[in-house]
Amino acid sequence: MIGPSWLIDDVLRVEDLIRSVAGSSLHPLVAEPALHLIKAGGKRLRPALVLLSSRAGEAGRRETDLAAAAVEMVHLATLYHDDVIDETETRRGVPTTHEKWGIEVAVLAGDYLFACGCALGADAGGEVPGVLARAIARVCEGQIIETANLNDPRRPVGHYVDTIRAKTAELFRASCELGAATSDAARHHRTTLVRYGENLGLAFQIIDDLLDLVGDPEVTGKIPGTDLREGVFTAPVLLACERDASLVAKLEGGVRDLDELLPAVRASGGVEAALELAGGYAEQARAALDGLPETEWTAAMRMMIDGVLAQVEEKAA
Ligand code: IPE
Ligand code: IPE
Ligand code: MG
Ligand code: MG
Repeated sequence: MIGPSWLIDDVLRVEDLIRSVAGSSLHPLVAEPALHLIKAGGKRLRPALVLLSSRAGEAGRRETDLAAAAVEMVHLATLYHDDVIDETETRRGVPTTHEKWGIEVAVLAGDYLFACGCALGADAGGEVPGVLARAIARVCEGQIIETANLNDPRRPVGHYVDTIRAKTAELFRASCELGAATSDAARHHRTTLVRYGENLGLAFQIIDDLLDLVGDPEVTGKIPGTDLREGVFTAPVLLACERDASLVAKLEGGVRDLDELLPAVRASGGVEAALELAGGYAEQARAALDGLPETEWTAAMRMMIDGVLAQVEEKAA
């Protein structure tokens, strides 16, 4: 994770909490798979958002750390289940949990992490359990809607955006809300932070979807082309389909191979168009921050927007 040293210190404190809770089972067959992806790496963006947002109020409270750990554990749980659904072999540069321990253990370890996250949320108290539970429900809604729209190259981009708003942006939004809630930030700051989080989350998922096409697996830790293989047509593909009927025909004909499809997506401007779409949400996230005082923590939040976009900008050419 990149950021100012005070933020890294805050995240490391939360990291200890995450590891001690995920590794607390006396049964190695529970503790090992539960700790597997935590040890493998990850950006810890969501706890960082909780911690940064808490600076709008009284930062440093135990409730904020508990909420930050809870949100990362919920995120982790979604990754375990997502990898089973997507049938992926690697995540964070290591074999996925189901590759190592089988589908049953991966699903149950995901459930276990969800429950650990909820327990941490309950320990935090106040608004945390409710915000967390509602966010989990929205993420599940988004994932279910995604599976109901697989293999449709004519899917409107607006429909895709609604889906990623639920499956991804919601947890970013909730992270900011939890930071504000646990620090008793002023109501207008909370509204602003939530707007920032949601728009950052939208930009983030569009960039992740671009990385699935043009990313370097050494950097992402994930195998490219997974979305296409699974019939998940994301922003760059859908925007290319709007411009190129032959691409629609290929996808309807069952072509799913990244090497075969990427040149057509690029040629029709799908990559640039998706980058522009992400840029628009990044702008809205920046505009939201204009409603907060200029501080080192809002500067770190702006850096986070830049960091999300920078993952892909040089690869779009
Ligand atoms: C992956 O999220 C899931 C998406 C919403 C795209 P991250 O890219 O934040 O995953 P880690 O935590 O850094 O591995
Ligand atoms: C993220 O979507 C789904 C979740 C909310 C877990 P992806 O399927 O694009 O995530 P990655 O690319 O596997 O990390
Ligand atoms: Mg996936
Ligand atoms: Mg992805």
